[in-house]
Amino acid sequence: MSNPQDASQPPDHVGAAFGAAAGDIARRASTSRSIARIVEPYALTRRALEDRRMIHPEESARKHADAFREIRTSLLARGGDHNFIVMVAPISPRSGGSFVARNLAAAFAFDEAKTALLIDCNLRNPSQHKELDVEAPDGGLIDYLEHPSLGVEKILCHTGIPRLRLIPSGHKREMGGEYFSSFRMRALIDSLRSRYPDRYLFLDGPAVKGSPDARILSDLVDFVVLVTGSGRDTPSAINKHVAGFDPAKLAGVVINEIP
Ligand SMILES: Nc1ncnc2c1ncn2[C@@H]1O[C@H](COP(=O)(O)OP(=O)(O)OP(=O)(O)O)[C@@H](O)[C@H]1O
Ligand SMILES: [Mg+2]
Repeated sequence: MSNPQDASQPPDHVGAAFGAAAGDIARRASTSRSIARIVEPYALTRRALEDRRMIHPEESARKHADAFREIRTSLLARGGDHNFIVMVAPISPRSGGSFVARNLAAAFAFDEAKTALLIDCNLRNPSQHKELDVEAPDGGLIDYLEHPSLGVEKILCHTGIPRLRLIPSGHKREMGGEYFSSFRMRALIDSLRSRYPDRYLFLDGPAVKGSPDARILSDLVDFVVLVTGSGRDTPSAINKHVAGFDPAKLAGVVINEIP
């Protein structure tokens, strides 16, 4: 653990730099906790998980799994007793933002009392359905936002990882801002959060650099986790981009060593 300012330090694979204060969302009115009963139609083997670059509880090289558990612990300490929504976004493109979002969601799903929902919000460059090898015959987020009559259940895909589901992005779009600021998007996120009090939401966002979309998306979430590829962004660039987010939401910056 280090401060976002220490981004020049050599990372230890995935190092979490959780410095900024985050808002106390424990004040939110709660419903009683219940475990969402999601029946997994199939479960991936350990080999299949490794092919998807996913952490798993029996991981032999535990470094990655432990790093994600640490970030989970830090977020849970800030979130109190209530489920929350996290946006994970890379500062520069191809820094491992989606890798971190996917594995952080999996780390929450390790806990049998929690479920995790990963939503691919990178409309220009969606990757989660490919990485997780998920077929989405009925489309995804964009299709739902354009045609809510489709129904949310249609776009909630099983991943083969117990308690982890994916909403793929659906049809490609150049810009996401107008979708992310729409009433439908907010209503969808709110209903996904409130339906199951043990469900944690992870929005996989587009790169912060060069587009306002990640910042617009951050209006919908409780916490923001930014990802910098080791050596990709200078400390001053990291600070500049960090400053673009509400400090009450910024949970930290993950330094990711891209292989
Ligand atoms: N620490 C890591 N260990 C193993 N593979 C990684 C790691 N970080 C990234 N990758 C892999 O590198 C590739 C690029 O990462 P990823 O797609 O997560 O980046 P991104 O920041 O989301 O990019 P984009 O700007 O396209 O959204 C992916 O295939 C991902 O699985
Ligand atoms: Mg990505």
